[in-house]
Amino acid sequence: MSQAIGGGNGGGEVYRNGNHHGGGVHSIGRRTRRSSRRLRDSGGGSDSRGSDSRVTQPRQEKDRAPLPCTDFDVAYFHSYAHLGIHEEMIKDRVRTEAYRNAIFRHQDRIEGKVVVDVGCGTGILSIFCAQAGARRVYAVDASDIAVQANEVVKANNLTDTITVLHGRVEDVEIDEEVDVIVSEWMGYMLLYESMLGSVITARDRWLKPGGLILPSYAKLYMAPVSHPCRYSESVDFWQNVYGIDMSVMMPLAKQCAFEEPSVELISGEHVLTWPHLVKNVDCSTVTIHELECVTTKFKFTSMMRAPFHGFAFWFDVEFGAPAMSDYDCIQQSASVETTDGRVTESSQRKKRSNPNETLVLSTAPEEAPTHWQQTIVYFYDPIDVEQDQLIEGSLTLSQSKENPRFMNIHLEYASNGRFFVKESVMR
Ligand SMILES: C[S@@+](CC[C@H](N)C(=O)[O-])C[C@H]1O[C@@H](n2cnc3c(N)ncnc32)[C@H](O)[C@@H]1O
Repeated sequence: MSQAIGGGNGGGEVYRNGNHHGGGVHSIGRRTRRSSRRLRDSGGGSDSRGSDSRVTQPRQEKDRAPLPCTDFDVAYFHSYAHLGIHEEMIKDRVRTEAYRNAIFRHQDRIEGKVVVDVGCGTGILSIFCAQAGARRVYAVDASDIAVQANEVVKANNLTDTITVLHGRVEDVEIDEEVDVIVSEWMGYMLLYESMLGSVITARDRWLKPGGLILPSYAKLYMAPVSHPCRYSESVDFWQNVYGIDMSVMMPLAKQCAFEEPSVELISGEHVLTWPHLVKNVDCSTVTIHELECVTTKFKFTSMMRAPFHGFAFWFDVEFGAPAMSDYDCIQQSASVETTDGRVTESSQRKKRSNPNETLVLSTAPEEAPTHWQQTIVYFYDPIDVEQDQLIEGSLTLSQSKENPRFMNIHLEYASNGRFFVKESVMR
């Protein structure tokens, strides 16, 4: 089911099949899309892994059996065929300029080298790499947007440098090792969408030892938040509707508003205390297996008296050498998890390891907004907390059995002797 589009040879022809030997785009999929990077419409039906007739060309290789392309993947790639999602991403200047800056900051590692762009979309990152002097860029995308990417490459006279492969990175063939992988794979709450697994696959298939991955590190954070206005506009609103008492609606309003995680912008003022690092990803060593289920224990000390409405999540990615985030740089008493799972107080002052070399794309509430915004898991009812009150518990993020691109969020938290559980699914 994959196809290749002429590219490197200056063609425009479409090949059927997933093997690439220079000069084309290989294609597969379809997908669902998020009106903003959400998989809400991704249909897909039952999980067909391993048994579906749509399984993408499971090539028999000695030591590599690519994951089959399921109906969910097909829907996922189809959603990325819609130009609107690419327009939204490209117009996110914080995101796109961070990638462009990172590519040019690493020009010495890219010039004259071979690059793979995992999930090239419109081809924008591949073109940045070509502008930075890459000798060859393999621009891989399973969505039909790859056809457009190939047209963009041709229109910019870059067919000698950029080869568009229209297919999954799990299936296409590249007959050489690569020096650099670039990819914009981050979903809401970092891991939603499960695209990092495909970057790992590309790394393990083609990256030379010591090769560069952009971004190189990713960090997912969480923090308790207070957001009285948001609660009021969704719930208290029903108390008086044009003078009519509709407060009987309030239980349903809570369920409708807060059952699922909410992607929205909050500000630093909503955050009750320092964030907790949920997951630290080193893209050069992370495994697909460790992303299937991420668990952490947290312990927060509220810095103010406020109604506590839920937990906010956001992420940073770092291009190049690891950096300490601003949170790490500040003397704080945030909780840290030890290797044996215990939660301890940390009051170390850490320094940015090499501030000149590390470029950070942050989606934190206090930073410039991005299209990822922040993700909030709201409670059905707020918890009143006092200054210095402890909030502790655990979080488990796991791929949904319903659709591995969805994410299950299991939260257990306790404060002032009361214990709560909140389950939600990010679809
Ligand atoms: C978030 S978009 C990024 C697009 C582009 N790189 C940019 O920065 O504007 C991710 C792209 O990766 C593609 N993609 C996701 N998983 C893939 C896989 N396993 N193989 C090939 N393409 C994939 C999607 O179809 C989508 O176009």
